[in-house]
Amino acid sequence: MKIVRTFAEARDLASGRVGFVPTMGYLHEGHISLVDAARRDCDTVTVSIFVNPLQFAPTEDLASYPRDLDRDVALVEAAGADVVFAPPLSEMYPSDPLTRVTVSGVTETMEGAIRPGHFDGVATVVAKLFAGVAPDVAYFGRKDAQQLVTVRRMTADLSFPIRVVGSPIVRESDGLALSSRNTYLDPAQRIAARALSTGVLAAAAAVRRGERSGGILEEIAARPVDAEPGIDLDYATLADQETAAPLGALDRPAFLAVAARVGRTRLLDNVHIDPDGGEWVPDEGIRLAETSILYREA
Ligand code: PAF
Repeated sequence: MKIVRTFAEARDLASGRVGFVPTMGYLHEGHISLVDAARRDCDTVTVSIFVNPLQFAPTEDLASYPRDLDRDVALVEAAGADVVFAPPLSEMYPSDPLTRVTVSGVTETMEGAIRPGHFDGVATVVAKLFAGVAPDVAYFGRKDAQQLVTVRRMTADLSFPIRVVGSPIVRESDGLALSSRNTYLDPAQRIAARALSTGVLAAAAAVRRGERSGGILEEIAARPVDAEPGIDLDYATLADQETAAPLGALDRPAFLAVAARVGRTRLLDNVHIDPDGGEWVPDEGIRLAETSILYREA
């Protein structure tokens, strides 16, 4: 496996069908599942590691976001990737970017409403990565559901010849969705944070029992979070998978998303719900048997 710092080197090392996994590092099994999917489908697997300042507000955790390139390189190599692209700031943004990518509409609700400018930063860096790495297929986790909607729309609108694949959420054995930000949680917060997955998984069970009302599903997802002291719910929303618009009823492919603050840490979780043989089937994700690598020494 090669570690490179420039777009040109990343492109030079790619041959055949190129699978791309963009990340901000501090990797966990969710990221590794994306590398695995790329490995199955593609000839070259390139993983980018770049903490993108453009998608953080000045009040957010850019400075404290966990970083450990040696740890990440070892994990990505073990997963069988071919190239790690870890650009310095000067490669990604040689000068202050005057060009930004704004995906309107799909970014107006949920995360977009709470984090103004966040999705402009995501869409801008992903567009630059797509242009510079030139992959055939790009892999994103479904945990960041609205990000996936935004990236799909940006890819279509800008005519990138890239297939965007969304992969299932990977969960700790107690249900907590994996996120690099979970490392911020102290032991009491870590236990309290289970309320998010308890909520969305209860809503998934209600879908399997036949519940179709957006309001009732949102209420079921919100209940455990509301009941947990020390957690503040930002939203519980049933949304359209294509537009991220809130839905009053489950009548098209959707995701039921919750976001909450546990102390100073914002956490997200969701279940995607797709039609299958006349049924609505929630995707509860994948549960690890053991504690994730987020808490393991490199
Ligand atoms: O999901 C992330 O880790 C980031 O938002 C991404 C897609 C790598 C862009 O910085």
